[in-house]
Amino acid sequence: MIVPQRIRRSPVAGRSDARIVIAREEGTSLTAHSGRRAPLGDARALFDLPEHVAYFNTANMSPMLRAVADAGIAGVRSRAAPWTITAEDWFSDVERLRSRVATLMDATPDAIALVPSTSYGLAIAARNVPLEPGDHIMVLAEEYPSNYYTWSHAADMADASVVQAVREPGQSWTDAVLGLIDERTAVVAVPNVHWTDGSVVDLEAIGAGARAVDAAVVVDASQSLGAMPLDLAGVDPDFVVSVGYKWLLGPFSVGYLYVADRHQRGQPIEHNWILRQGAEDFARLVDYTDEYQPGARRYDVGQRTNFGLVPMAIAAVDQLIAWSIPTVSDRLAVTCDALRRDIAAVGLDVPAPTAVGPHMFGVNLPPHRAGAVLDRLGDAGVIASIRGASLRISPHLHTTNADIDRLVSTLRSAV
Ligand SMILES: Cc1ncc(COP(=O)(O)O)c(C=O)c1O
Repeated sequence: MIVPQRIRRSPVAGRSDARIVIAREEGTSLTAHSGRRAPLGDARALFDLPEHVAYFNTANMSPMLRAVADAGIAGVRSRAAPWTITAEDWFSDVERLRSRVATLMDATPDAIALVPSTSYGLAIAARNVPLEPGDHIMVLAEEYPSNYYTWSHAADMADASVVQAVREPGQSWTDAVLGLIDERTAVVAVPNVHWTDGSVVDLEAIGAGARAVDAAVVVDASQSLGAMPLDLAGVDPDFVVSVGYKWLLGPFSVGYLYVADRHQRGQPIEHNWILRQGAEDFARLVDYTDEYQPGARRYDVGQRTNFGLVPMAIAAVDQLIAWSIPTVSDRLAVTCDALRRDIAAVGLDVPAPTAVGPHMFGVNLPPHRAGAVLDRLGDAGVIASIRGASLRISPHLHTTNADIDRLVSTLRSAV
């Protein structure tokens, strides 16, 4: 059952009558181990998702939480009345968001920069890791293009090379990467799960392997942050970047870059006024300074004060904090277990739970049937993605048993 946890003013403080209900599910502290578990789809009412849609496409973009949509509408209304916006408002929600994200990641607010995209965060990482001619930058084979292109450009600039880790049959990504790390490795740029099929990468093992040769670790967590715990202390990454619109349930254009303390005095990729020390004093902006705002704020994107989007991102992160990432992860694991069991019964190959993240997985389809299967699913109101020859299934806490039945019965008739 969904119970309102607390009601608070719109994040654009004090200027709107809109109220945002942040909800918590009764029993979310009960995990898979407790014996009592909320039924699948218990949180569906929190999402703006019609009954006839069975949505398994969070890895593409999440459906929107009602609280996030409400915050966006209130934010746009607030922007429509600029005479009510004070100088302080340019900073207050941005800092609120930064500290909420820090809470979610178990980091300090100073370690978080607000970035519009993964590629922006990766560009900051590429600008700040030392690269020498002959160095290797390791990525996974079939890596997401933003990660591949960023590093191939950085390699070109430094006369270094991108090395793609390819898995042998039956091999894990972790072993494929560890097998290629040597003294030439300068950067290991990996996700926590492969974006095409959720196959898992052990970041702690890779962090240890990279540290042994003094290589930097850069994590694209766009397909995992919000749905999988990430132990920053255990991995010790140099940078972690994530979009906000997938597993973090927020809007487009508000993403997050975690920056390890050792890189917080580095070079930003743009030189925006608001990132400089004293920017709060609008009357003295032309007293130019070489000093920056503290910590990772120097890497924030210009115009980060987006009065429409930032309140949405706060509402989304607040909901995840209220649920807690371990709870979300446990519950998605239960959903994915149920999905795999029923899909295997149709005769399709599903991965072992240990081979994939708790929240998403790929089902290999006969390649000549993949397009037709996707069409049949679409006709039945079942939304998923095809990546390569793999049907990528990525549910969330809105997923009900009826959604699973609809996906599985359509697959049964379509393959
Ligand atoms: C692994 C991964 N990284 C990044 C992105 C998005 O990249 P960008 O923010 O550069 O558009 C996606 C989108 O699907 C993704 O799956």
